[in-house]
Amino acid sequence: MDAILDLLSDPRRIAAAAFVALAVKSLLDRLTRPKDLPPFYSETPYIPWLGSIVQFATGPREFLQRAALSTGTGCFTVQLFGKQMTFLTGSDGHAHFFKARENQFDIREAYAMTVITFGPGVCYDCPQSKMAQQFAFFKNGLSDECFVRYMDLVQEEAASFFESEWGDEGEACLLESLSDLFTLTSSRCLLGDEIRAKWKSSGMAEHYLALDHSFVPILFFFPWIPNPHRNKCVTARKLFEKMFKETIEERRKNPSKEKSNDFLQVLMEAKYRDGTALTVTEITGIMIGVLLGGQHTSNVTGTWLMSHLFKSKEWMDEIMDEQARIFSTENLDETLHPAKLSFADVQKMEVFDKALSEALRLHPPFFQLSRAVKIPSKFKGYNIPEGHIVNVSPGASHRLPDLWGDDADSFDPDRFSPERKNDIKPYGWIPFGGGMHQCGGRKFAWNSLKVSLSWLLRNYELEFVGKGAEELPKEDYTTMVVAPTSSHTRVRYRRRKPSRN
Ligand code: HEM
Repeated sequence: MDAILDLLSDPRRIAAAAFVALAVKSLLDRLTRPKDLPPFYSETPYIPWLGSIVQFATGPREFLQRAALSTGTGCFTVQLFGKQMTFLTGSDGHAHFFKARENQFDIREAYAMTVITFGPGVCYDCPQSKMAQQFAFFKNGLSDECFVRYMDLVQEEAASFFESEWGDEGEACLLESLSDLFTLTSSRCLLGDEIRAKWKSSGMAEHYLALDHSFVPILFFFPWIPNPHRNKCVTARKLFEKMFKETIEERRKNPSKEKSNDFLQVLMEAKYRDGTALTVTEITGIMIGVLLGGQHTSNVTGTWLMSHLFKSKEWMDEIMDEQARIFSTENLDETLHPAKLSFADVQKMEVFDKALSEALRLHPPFFQLSRAVKIPSKFKGYNIPEGHIVNVSPGASHRLPDLWGDDADSFDPDRFSPERKNDIKPYGWIPFGGGMHQCGGRKFAWNSLKVSLSWLLRNYELEFVGKGAEELPKEDYTTMVVAPTSSHTRVRYRRRKPSRN
């Protein structure tokens, strides 16, 4: 008894005892591990309970690739913060992940931390059938057909943003500029003209930052940790809800006025299968979801693409030639700016499509997609048991030789050419995920990126300066989407002048 009291009287001894207990438990778990579980992968130093966190935090892509190559099974488990994280790789592994039933691999539990940002009763905080219906609303409002209506709005926003923020010449951080631009284009096309007009003056722009900052990666492992942004999020959501309530009431009061063509209108008219309409709280949460879902994913993708194009003259020339062909001109300067694109023009940008696909292969914004295992399943004879977190990693898999060959690290848009496209294995290219949760905004993102970046290239001469002039950015894993290091994304720009000769 005295020995125990003695131990409890000193915090250092408590810590040491806890560490020894964890180490013993970890060793016992390893020794008694059932043989049919996926191979367990670890490297030195392996810390009890924390597991492989050092390797994962410092170089997640390389770590998972070493694990995949060393186990060679397309399925392995690593330990992070006491959790058993099972990764599925390769074409078959990805198919197993994306084809699983919702009640088998549960997305809601894996992304439970989003409730602070989107609010209760929205997206992953719903019963399965309601969540599926909400995601179907997303898909309806973000389709190609809807984008035809958004085309001009995106171009107007791009023109006014660069006019007011960049001017004729100067230097800027491309990552930040595209981030600001995509917030404005999304708010214009999706939230509606009324909200876009009040975006800055109402304080929404400022409160939006609080929502954005609330995605803290550690919450993925411990959604119960008090989120330091919680109170700010509640305040921000209240303001957003007030603004949407006013706008919706105003629109309903004036039914004779021409109907708006935006995503807000789609949600106002949407009905669940039982005939009920969405509440303003639900509309607000979904709107926050589309804004956050689209902004960083699009701006990091745009910046990675530009970083590669400016390092690869041959591809940049092809992109500019394609722009010239679309405008049927020999003289780029005369017609490329400030001319407007039509939706049909955007579909003709095949070189752009290839380059964008390749940028997303090398730099998928979501490094890892996760689900909580609720019902065990068998993969290649291994048992993936209840309680594991099952994952696919676009970031690691997109560079594995079994899917992309020995030159998987090089930028080669021709992988997506009509001749070679058929070589891509099923579920080999997964920047937008797959199966029932495949990205609902992928068409909107694709079209917005093409329209905005084509506008930028046609209107400005650009060059990367500083570190980004010499080398490609590194991957920054500290944010929820994998961004290029901002120190490498400074550009010097000069507006192209229409020449009339
Ligand atoms: C380059 C841009 C984008 C990338 C790479 C991307 C990637 C992804 C990925 C990987 C998922 C699946 C997550 C999972 O399975 O765990 C996803 C889901 C989703 N994304 Fe995107 N996204 C992009 C842009 C957008 C935009 C612009 C929007 C909306 C305007 C959007 C809305 C959504 C929605 C609603 C879902 C959930 C779909 C569902 O679970 O049914 N995304 N996205």
